[in-house]
Amino acid sequence: MSRGRLIAFEGGEASGKSTQAARLAAERRAVLTREPGGTALGGAIRRLVLDPAVSVSPWAEALLMAADRAQHVAEVIAPALARGDDVVTDRYIPSSLAYQGYGRGLDKSALHRISAWATGGVDADLVVLLDVPPAVAAARLEGRDRMEAAGAEFHARVSEGYRALAADDPDRWVVVDGEGSVDEVAARVRDAVDKWLASQS
Ligand SMILES: Nc1ncnc2c1ncn2[C@@H]1O[C@H](COP(=O)(O)OP(=O)(O)OP(=O)(O)O)[C@@H](O)[C@H]1O
Ligand SMILES: [Mg+2]
Repeated sequence: MSRGRLIAFEGGEASGKSTQAARLAAERRAVLTREPGGTALGGAIRRLVLDPAVSVSPWAEALLMAADRAQHVAEVIAPALARGDDVVTDRYIPSSLAYQGYGRGLDKSALHRISAWATGGVDADLVVLLDVPPAVAAARLEGRDRMEAAGAEFHARVSEGYRALAADDPDRWVVVDGEGSVDEVAARVRDAVDKWLASQS
């Protein structure tokens, strides 16, 4: 049996990752999972890093994300790929590079090494980057205020980081316009994934 494929959704807050990951996973009958939090350990880590009462230094955050990812690969991703299932994950290694690397300014090659070590080299076969202008994301986030909490400049660095990562690795990344209705974006994602699959065979 051939190994399944790992497709990761990436992008800033409210770019539509969770919505589109669920759509694509349902269409392709793939295993749907997410980071942080795809496992019981990951759920606990997710609550910790999102808890405003818990202080987490940038490197501690990076290592907690790596611990989450190690468990996620061991418990969910690697077994699914080995049985031949495709996996769609809502965030993966690129989130660490974009948020901790570009956003917080941590050493990117160290982040790469930590992620590679934590995953045993299990990388995404395809990364779908959902691109939405900050104003659209802000409108979708209304009432949640998370964007404001972290600061516009931080989010601008994260977006720039994602664009740089996509430009560096065009065979493995597709940038999809995330504006428009859920159906419109889902159709763009489907086209992009189909094109990528055709290019692989
Ligand atoms: N194409 C769309 N048009 C309008 N609203 C959308 C669209 N896609 C998603 N939304 C809504 O915008 C919000 C954010 O979407 P979603 O949760 O999928 O984004 P996300 O990238 O997973 O965000 P987060 O980074 O916070 O997890 C949700 O309320 C969702 O219902
Ligand atoms: Mg989400």
